[in-house]
Amino acid sequence: MTVLTIDAGTTGVTALMVGEDGRVLARGYQEFAQHYPEAGWVEHVPEEIWQATLAACQSALDAAGTPPTCVGITNQRETAVLWDRKRGSSPRRAIVWQDRRTAGICTELRDAGHEDRVTEVTGLRLDPYFTATKLTWMRRHDQRAWGGVERGETAIGTVDSYIIARLTGGARHVTDASNASRTLLYDLRRGAWSEEMCELFGVPMSALPEVVPSYGTVGETSPEEFLGLSLPVSGIAGDQQAAMFGQNCYHPGSSKCTYGTGSFILVNTGTEAVAPEHGLLSTVLWQHPDGRLEYALEGSIFVTGAAVQWLRDGLGLIDTAPQSEGLAASVPDSGGVVFVPALTGLGAPDWDPHARGSIFGITRGTGRAHLARATLDAIAFEVRDVAEAMERASGTRLPELRVDGGASANDLLCQIQADQLGVSVARPQVQETTALGAAFLAGLATGVWSSTDELERTWNLDRRFEPGERDDAQYRRWRTAVERSKGWAEL
Ligand code: G3P
Repeated sequence: MTVLTIDAGTTGVTALMVGEDGRVLARGYQEFAQHYPEAGWVEHVPEEIWQATLAACQSALDAAGTPPTCVGITNQRETAVLWDRKRGSSPRRAIVWQDRRTAGICTELRDAGHEDRVTEVTGLRLDPYFTATKLTWMRRHDQRAWGGVERGETAIGTVDSYIIARLTGGARHVTDASNASRTLLYDLRRGAWSEEMCELFGVPMSALPEVVPSYGTVGETSPEEFLGLSLPVSGIAGDQQAAMFGQNCYHPGSSKCTYGTGSFILVNTGTEAVAPEHGLLSTVLWQHPDGRLEYALEGSIFVTGAAVQWLRDGLGLIDTAPQSEGLAASVPDSGGVVFVPALTGLGAPDWDPHARGSIFGITRGTGRAHLARATLDAIAFEVRDVAEAMERASGTRLPELRVDGGASANDLLCQIQADQLGVSVARPQVQETTALGAAFLAGLATGVWSSTDELERTWNLDRRFEPGERDDAQYRRWRTAVERSKGWAEL
């Protein structure tokens, strides 16, 4: 038996065929366009996400040669999508999680005294990152598209919801609890949409998807819409929660860090939604078919892998992302250069939508290798900031950090990370754990696997990085540089 898993990420869609032993048997990948209509804005064309999904799945299915048992979906979270319930077409582009245009709406709501209540109900904070203010913006500025929402013709959802609607030919309008908990519209403890939050952000509850558990069959793919296949759709989770599942972080205290466009560190807090402090978020990890919710504390860092991409695409310093490792390793340190990659503002733990990227300490001796090294340092420092916030929040030290995602293949980064955290960093053999987690969820629901105990046996260590000496002086310079980067977009 095999499982087809779709990971609809921020820059492209990955499809994997996963075998019963947890190994990846075949894969497909398709990028889609990023649109930046104004400074700080990021948009996606929903139809392009769907076409990329079809292309990635077709490649994976062709390479595997045998049909899968079921399909699981995981996705970039928070991104706001509208689509016509009957036709599946979208009246406007999606507003992506990285988009900063709603910083003013957040300030307005904060000034009106709503922040504490928003955090109490949702576990999140008033930041443009989350879905709700993106919808408020559409209501205020795009009446043409919003009119369909008010008339009941247009559905609202995150990317999981949109893909499931397209997979099922419009038959299902659902999202799972982990995705719902990223919208600012979901009551974290009650486990349902919050009427109070929907009213605050001006979002009609009737346009929102039904919230379903993270595993269990929610519908069938429509053969006319989806490559001639009729498959149960049986696993759904936001990408960071799926990565926790794929890393077997099933027990309270277990944690992982995924290095993708950004980096997201989650710690399992069990059945308790811990009040978020120290710049962290409280979020749903997954919901079991019997309705039980499990939670996590999350530190969301917006730009890590994207900083390496910027070295490649923005500066042309390297031709491929993996080249950053050799270039950074060609110097003993960054030569005093500190790079704050606040390219889309700052997320955890500093939270400043007006911060912008900055580079400090450049001298005549500074070269491209120093900048590459400063970029890897920055990623490790950002993760250290969050790990320290986690330790303050929980009062305990992280025992180790499991890592995954594209940049976790970078040995130098993993070593700097272990040095900076002072704990060991464990990298599994399968680093595409986001997609793997969605496969596990879908396969658990359809009998491919019988329990999480069985899934735990599929986790194999690739390499462990033990902490060595750490450069605290450079870390202090980093913290000073972060402070100086704040508020830049407001000057
Ligand atoms: O919260 C945003 C996150 O879900 C995006 O993940 O993997 O596309 O960087 P990724």
